[in-house]
Amino acid sequence: MELINAIKARRSVRKYTDRQIPRADLEKIIEAGTYASNAGGGQRSMIVGIHNADMVEKLGRMNMAKLDRSRLIGSYVSKEQPSVIDDPSIKSGFYGAPSLCIVFAQKNFMFGIPDAFCCAETMLMEAFDLGISSCIVSRAEETFDSGIGAALLKEWGVPENYIARCFVTLGYCDGEYPKAKPRRAGRSKIIE
Ligand SMILES: Cc1cc2nc3c(=O)[nH]c(=O)nc-3n(C[C@H](O)[C@H](O)[C@H](O)COP(=O)(O)O)c2cc1C
Repeated sequence: MELINAIKARRSVRKYTDRQIPRADLEKIIEAGTYASNAGGGQRSMIVGIHNADMVEKLGRMNMAKLDRSRLIGSYVSKEQPSVIDDPSIKSGFYGAPSLCIVFAQKNFMFGIPDAFCCAETMLMEAFDLGISSCIVSRAEETFDSGIGAALLKEWGVPENYIARCFVTLGYCDGEYPKAKPRRAGRSKIIE
């Protein structure tokens, strides 16, 4: 598919089937993340892939537990695929995805957050190319802000000066694949 068509067709998916993605595809998606544009060419972001649906569910519940509903602005995200913002009955911030990537950045690096999200977006596009659905999820820092969270990071060998900045859920879309909302007008300009 021509890249512009893939960019237009990719959507965030918030409902997944139980089918696990192949490990080889997860490896490709992670590899794509390591090729994302990154500040100063420093290649500082780190990615931990979780290829274990039970572990993703546990992490998704830890993520949801950190959602402060009082800070939500209230507008719905997607009619076809409700998010935690729209549907209080959703228990996991990862929507039942069987795989997950966690993107880490150095704690004290000023471009750590943009680096992590560039990495995440690149992984979304590679996943889409492989026929795998995905969604960026935030609240990464808070998700691991507990004794259980710290213990997991230690177990995975995440260096102490690294902090989780975002997640990418991965799996196969359950139901109709979401359609793009019309683009808001007036968001760009070209100056000759
Ligand atoms: C910085 C950022 C944070 C996001 N955080 C979440 C999140 O916590 N939960 C979620 O379901 N989607 C999250 N998303 C996905 C957006 O909601 C989604 O990209 C947006 O609604 C547009 O939909 P589309 O990706 O289908 O075009 C996030 C996206 C970005 C770029």
